[in-house]
Amino acid sequence: MRITRSGAVSLNEHTGAQLRRLCAVVGLAERADEVASVLADILGPSGDRSLADPVPWRSDVADDHTPVEYSIAFEEDGSHTLRLLVEAGAREPSPSANLLAALAALDRLAQRYPLSLDRFAAVRELFLPAEPRGVFALWFSVVVTKARVAVKVYLNPQVHGRAAAPGLVAAGLERLGLTTAWSDLGAHAPRPGSTLDRFSFFALDLDDTPRSRVKVYQSHFRAGQRELGVLGAACPLTDADVLAHFTATIGRRDRYDGRPLVTSHIYLAGHERPRGFSVYLPVRDYVRDDVVALARTRTLLSAHGFDATVLDDAVAAVTGRPLAAGAGLIAHVSLRMGSPRPGVTVYLSAEAYAVPVPCVAAVGAA
Ligand code: TRP
Repeated sequence: MRITRSGAVSLNEHTGAQLRRLCAVVGLAERADEVASVLADILGPSGDRSLADPVPWRSDVADDHTPVEYSIAFEEDGSHTLRLLVEAGAREPSPSANLLAALAALDRLAQRYPLSLDRFAAVRELFLPAEPRGVFALWFSVVVTKARVAVKVYLNPQVHGRAAAPGLVAAGLERLGLTTAWSDLGAHAPRPGSTLDRFSFFALDLDDTPRSRVKVYQSHFRAGQRELGVLGAACPLTDADVLAHFTATIGRRDRYDGRPLVTSHIYLAGHERPRGFSVYLPVRDYVRDDVVALARTRTLLSAHGFDATVLDDAVAAVTGRPLAAGAGLIAHVSLRMGSPRPGVTVYLSAEAYAVPVPCVAAVGAA
């Protein structure tokens, strides 16, 4: 990781400028001020700090510890959803202080937007101990469309340690009334009993609509297409051919032995079985540099009928650096399967603190 910044720009200034440009290229310019202020509000004191100062907290949101990551969901109607993954930072960051900062930010968000906190209330005591363990306790996703700004929370199944994670996910699903989900997930475990598959996020949409989702994420170390097939079979809407095309396009491997593949099973109230299945491929570990990552992602977008030039513009909105100078601007690419038809989401790093160096060793990088 190479540190590239020396100017006295603050994190808020850096991300605020990126956001304004990003909102403009995805057709959400009228939301830019609102989103920049929501972001600064969640970031808290960490947003005011100069990027020339040492990283205040080793956030796991992004590789360089920037506590913000952007993503752009390409939607079937040709529109785009802009999302921000954000970690709140306390003045003196620590796991417990950051959790308190996040809970305070959630209170402020609930004053600003009509959030529905019932499901969060039903599971918070499971996932939010006073002394959290693991890499985070509570992250936010700010989901921006023309129609509205929505909020989602991510909880950490490993917050009581890795061994307790399955029990926490089981209890969380039970409390949310998804009574068959746990046994169904167990029936689709790709490597039963193995520690290579780990529950990594438990996410809740905080809105009160029939579309409001519960998402269970797992990270799959050293997994390949076979494991994805077993996991995907839990959802009746998974299309194995579309999935195989996705991995072949973004980075074909027998085993993904760099950063793990991540999957999520998506639950909706009133449905026993998952209504969606998504796969997140950490493309940055499987390419030489962002030139290759962008080329592959463009190919995928075009194959799905999406306008790939929007991604070019989004990349230019986030960075002016040569794409060959790093691998990690495009951090993940994900395939969403479910009704009505598949979509693609591309995750872009803010690179506020550093640009990861290109990976000369990436096999098949061309
Ligand atoms: N940076 C972490 C990782 O790469 C967490 C994360 C951020 C993540 N955005 C993500 C994980 C998108 C999966 C998909 O694991």
